[in-house]
Amino acid sequence: MKFTLCTDNKVFPYMLIDDFYADDQQLEIWEALEYYRKENLYSDGKLEDGYGVSPAANLNRLYLEELYPDNREDSNILRVYKKILLPEVIRNYRNTTPSARQFENTNNDCSVVSYYEDENNYGEHFDSFMHTVLIWFYKEPKKFTGGNLRFPESNKIVECIHNRMIMFPSYYLHEVDRVKLESKYRDQGLGRYCMTHFYSKV
Ligand SMILES: [Fe+2]
Repeated sequence: MKFTLCTDNKVFPYMLIDDFYADDQQLEIWEALEYYRKENLYSDGKLEDGYGVSPAANLNRLYLEELYPDNREDSNILRVYKKILLPEVIRNYRNTTPSARQFENTNNDCSVVSYYEDENNYGEHFDSFMHTVLIWFYKEPKKFTGGNLRFPESNKIVECIHNRMIMFPSYYLHEVDRVKLESKYRDQGLGRYCMTHFYSKV
């Protein structure tokens, strides 16, 4: 794990971790992502409001709590994501933003897998949770362009890099720019995957 504390904007700091998941964990995640795609488990197109997320979303999405209601341990992703709570991660987030105190105080989370292909994007919005964690995956070499994350209030752009994790307070406005994928690469799982974990207190 390579930590980058992005604190030059004092109002909207965020934390990046590159090489987040280890090789064996990445294999487990790919197994799940490929299965969801082949079984066509994503709901597609523009989605109605749900889980406090914005209808500005134009992407394919899968809610892991719905797929694994009583059997979370059967989900490869829901087994490995506990890494987000490692003391090393929390310590670095605390050095990024004082709102990390709130993260440590959360007791609930929910997880969404998103898949973006050509023309998919996610317009400006905020998440109705306390903290948001995104982890990006794609098959290397990258076949698409776009799909980067932008924070309009601080005018920061974070490049979508495979196995990069970003963590920020959910109230920051953020958007995903439009993914472009040549037609010969479409429908083969060569687009942009995002694993999103929302943290809150109930
Ligand atoms: Fe979001």
